[in-house]
This record gives sequence, C-alpha cells and structure tokens, in this order.
Amino acid sequence: KILIIDFGSQVTQLIARRVRDSGVFSEVYPYDVSDEFIRNYGASGVILSGGPNSVIDDETPRAPQAVFELGVPVLGICYGMQTMAAQLGGQVENGKVREFGYAEVRARGHTKLLQDIVDFTTTEGHGMLKVWMSHGDKVNVMPAGFKLMASTDNCPIAGMADEERQFYAVQFHPEVTHTVQGAALIGRFVHEICGCKSDWNMPDYINEAVAAIRAQVGSDDVILGLSGGVDSSVAAALIHRAIGDQLTCVFVDHGLLRLDEGKMVMEMFAENLGVKVIHVDATAQFMGHLAGVTDPEQKRKIIGREFVEVFQVESAKIKNAKWLAQGTIYPDVIESAGKGKKGHTIKSHHNVGGLPETLHLKLLEPLRELFKDEVRKLGVALGLPESMVYRHPFPGPGLGVRILGEVKKEFADLLRRADAIFIEELRNTKVEGTDQNWYQATSQAFAVFLPVKSVGVMGDGRTYEYVVALRAVQTQDFMTAHWAHLPHELLGKVSNRIINEVRGINRVVYDISGKPPATIEWE
Ligand code: XMP
Repeated sequence: KILIIDFGSQVTQLIARRVRDSGVFSEVYPYDVSDEFIRNYGASGVILSGGPNSVIDDETPRAPQAVFELGVPVLGICYGMQTMAAQLGGQVENGKVREFGYAEVRARGHTKLLQDIVDFTTTEGHGMLKVWMSHGDKVNVMPAGFKLMASTDNCPIAGMADEERQFYAVQFHPEVTHTVQGAALIGRFVHEICGCKSDWNMPDYINEAVAAIRAQVGSDDVILGLSGGVDSSVAAALIHRAIGDQLTCVFVDHGLLRLDEGKMVMEMFAENLGVKVIHVDATAQFMGHLAGVTDPEQKRKIIGREFVEVFQVESAKIKNAKWLAQGTIYPDVIESAGKGKKGHTIKSHHNVGGLPETLHLKLLEPLRELFKDEVRKLGVALGLPESMVYRHPFPGPGLGVRILGEVKKEFADLLRRADAIFIEELRNTKVEGTDQNWYQATSQAFAVFLPVKSVGVMGDGRTYEYVVALRAVQTQDFMTAHWAHLPHELLGKVSNRIINEVRGINRVVYDISGKPPATIEWE
C-alpha cells in the first residue's frame, strides 16, 4: 500500500485517486503524523503531496523524518519535492516568477521514473512532457546523491532523483489530468518502483470502508437523509452493508420529487435492500408554506427550512442516534474548503443547511474521499441498479425551482408527467453513430413549468393552457454548460406526446440558452 502525506494541496485526493486507478490501495494522512506512525504503517512507498506553504518560511510543514529512513521509495510532488530537498540537505529559493498552468518540461529519460515516458521530442532530440505547474518556490540546489531528472527554462530543477535510495521528486503535478503522462508516471512509481501489484478493487474498497464505518460508530445508531440522489443512496447502501439495522434513513417527500420517485426509493431501499426507511409525506406542509410565494430565493429558503424542520422531528424519534450520515463526496469537500491549511481541517459541506449543528450529532461521511465516478462504481458494486446510479443530478429543492413563480400541487403534477415523458424519450433514442442514448449523452435534462397560458387548437376546440419548456445540457462540471443539440425528430416526438398525454399543457418550447449567461435551472 501507498502512504500519501498531505501538505494541504487542493489536489491531494487526486493523487489517491490516481493510485487507486492503478489498482493499488492508498491512504492520505496529514504531514504531522508521528515518526512511529510512519514506521508502523507498512507502506511500500510514500508520496509527499503539494501544499500552500513555503519551505523557506520559519515554521513550515515537514515530512516526518522517518519517511526518508524507511528504505522504501518516496515521490515528492511540488511542495513535497521542496521539503524533500530541504530535509535532505538541498536548497530551495523563492522563485521570482510564479509558474502556473501548462508547461513543457524537458525530461531526462535516464531515470527509472521517466524512462520512455514522453509526449513529444524536440528537433534537438529532447524528450518533452506536457505538464501542469503551480508553484512560486523552487529547488535550486539538489541534495547530495540526486541527479537532474527534468527541467524547464523557468525551473532548471523541475525533477530530481536519487536512484540509489529510490527518492524521486517532480515540481509539476502528475496527479492532475492536464499532465498528459501523469497517470503513466504514477503507475510507474507504484508498480515498478514500489513493486505494488494491481490487486485492489471496488470489492476491497467496500470491505475496508465497511470495517472503517464499524470501527467509527461502534454500537451507536446512525440516521441519514435519503433523497433518492446518487450520493445519499450510495452512502445509505454502504452504511447499511456495514451496520444493518443500526442505520435508519429518513426520506422526506416534499411533494416536489420526480414521477414515482418516492415509490422507487422505497422499493429499492426498504424492499430490495431491507434498509429501515421512514417515508415522510410532507407534501401538505411544504405546499402550505409555499402558497403565495413567487420569489425564487424565498422559495428555496422555505424548502430548505421546512426540510430541516421535518427531518428534525423524525430524527428525534430515533432515540439512540449519535451519528448523522451524509453523502458528502470529495468535490463537495473542495467546494466548501475554506483556507484550511491541511486537507483534514477544512469544514464539511452540508447539502442541507444547518442540519448537523442543530441536531448535535456527529458526522459520518464515508464517501468524502471519492469522486463522482468512483461513487457510481461503488454504487453498482453495492448492488444498486445502474439506472439509479447513473441518474442525472436533481436539485435539493426539486421541482420547486422548476415551477416558475408560485408552486402549486396541480402544477407539480403536470410537470412530473411532462418530465417523465421527456426522460423516457431521451432514454429510448440512440445518438446516431454511437451506442449511447440521449439520456446518457446529456448531463442533465428536465422539463420546466411556465405558469403562463397560450392559445391552441385541439380537434375542433380552442384550448387555453400552460406551457412547458424542455432543457437539456451538456457539461463537464456544471459550472458552464452548452444546450444539447437534440435531434428535431426527438423534440417533435416529445412535444407531441406531452401535448397529447398531459391535459393542461398545449405548448412545448426548447431552451437554447448556454450557461453562462443562463443557469441550468430556471430559478
Ligand atoms: P445552476 O442552475 O446554478 O445549477 O446552473 C447547477 C447545478 O446545480 C444544481 N442545483 C442544485 N442542487 N441544491 C442542489 O442540490 C440546489 O439548491 C441546487 N440548485 C441548482 C442544478 O440542478 C445543476 O445540476
């Protein structure tokens, strides 16, 4: 196994992720663990992460000295390289130019780490790597025993190696995807240099996670707010695997869920998996508080507040509950990271504002080191159906932000049916020339209810009914998005079906706005 020492870089978890991707188990620990911990850990190799500090400052993080005395390979990345240099007798200087972003590094292929790993060769015959850099300081004198492994104009010592002791260090970040050969480089380190086998996989992960959850909660009871979304569902399935009936899920139906969602959640969890789920139908309460409210922010606040209210009442009934489980995943942790110096001190992300504090429960977040695609793989390995695990994201306030203006139950009912038709047709239509359907080819797709009436004609009669807008976007990170170029035939079919099947809707329009300037949701 690989031990990752964290100096607080925002991308430390990416190192763990790359190591996991290469089939090797790894764990992240803060830099201030003891020498004894390091000696007893049993690592086959150690990776020192990047971090925000400067090695030159008076009091700055150092790797436990034992790391360099274990006799196992060590890879320093960015700050990890600088502290390695400083701790082994080299020198680091304050770089005059900050280097940030894409860079081309001349790689010396004579080291085991970089041998034959190259992106292109210059006319002079130099092997080059396309990498991502983010640093101010740089190593200017290598410790004794090291030789040069990589360089740029800005950073003459961009990589160094002491192959006798198997110490390697790079100034750039192999863990980010912008470093083209990053995965190859980390794979080389863990497999060939550290000698780890690719024998770690999702079932192993489940066993480890299950053991960790058991150790953490002991015989306490745990409650979890199940939303039907991917993250809370996978968290529920994992925790249930670990502690069975010590887990109680509270599923709050605010009346703003998708068609048959409540039924689906209950079937999957309560019936198929045997999870204890309290299903609260709070539609009347939510609708009551939303009556007459049209302002989008106000609506969001009310939905959030009522959710907490309902959840609190239900969880108070579970007398032995000491833990609140949440499906927080790594991008949530990063998103809500303050200026925490170490990765493990940054504050937790709350999907639902204020829950943990007001409940006085300890937080259990078994997915907080995983990325979305890993959570999905975990969900499948835990036996959740792929159709659920690969569902598009759905906002916490649900249809509340997709019914423009005042939310009414009759509007929600119309919208649910229109939305279900849209999704069904997306799933049933292949993208030409691929084996994906349009649901898979879009990142998020849904219908929006517009509370305006327009005139239409059906049969011999005049109609005067509501409008539904269809929205489908493609995006990597949901920060920016393109509207999806759905085929006209598909749009035509969806429009026909909605108008024919959903009495009350006589017009369907397609949203062709990008984000920015529009947002993905309409409110
Ligand atoms: P926007 O509309 O800001 O949405 O472009 C970006 C992504 O965030 C989702 N979203 C939410 N998710 N609670 C959530 O859990 C919310 O209040 C919320 N508002 C927007 C939205 O569906 C899209 O995926």
